[in-house]
Amino acid sequence: MNQLQATTAQPATAVAWHPVCALEDIWPNMGVCALIEGQQIAIFRLKDDQLYALDNRDPHSDANVLSRGLVGDLGGELVVASPIYKHHYQLRTGLCVEDATVCLNVYPVEVRDGRVWVQR
Ligand code: FES
Repeated sequence: MNQLQATTAQPATAVAWHPVCALEDIWPNMGVCALIEGQQIAIFRLKDDQLYALDNRDPHSDANVLSRGLVGDLGGELVVASPIYKHHYQLRTGLCVEDATVCLNVYPVEVRDGRVWVQR
């Protein structure tokens, strides 16, 4: 098979960009939860307006809580702390700092004309 065929194959569920809210609806250093295609996604806005999107579900507690977690810096890596057991997840990669066997899905997120869009 040539490479063009391999890269044009479509996944069963097509990935698309979804509008979520205005950037101003998210307070700096806070998160919000968005329901996108039936899945809860936590979106965080940092002080410098950097955005991160990852699963809202905390696998250790099986609760949809991560959008309410505190964001901070852990050893130079931006993380969110789960409100339940306080595990930390890297905002960039979704990796659980305390348990390398756990990794959340992360999603592309960007601002267009003042609105936040997430790709899923
Ligand atoms: S996954 Fe919830 S604290 Fe670790």
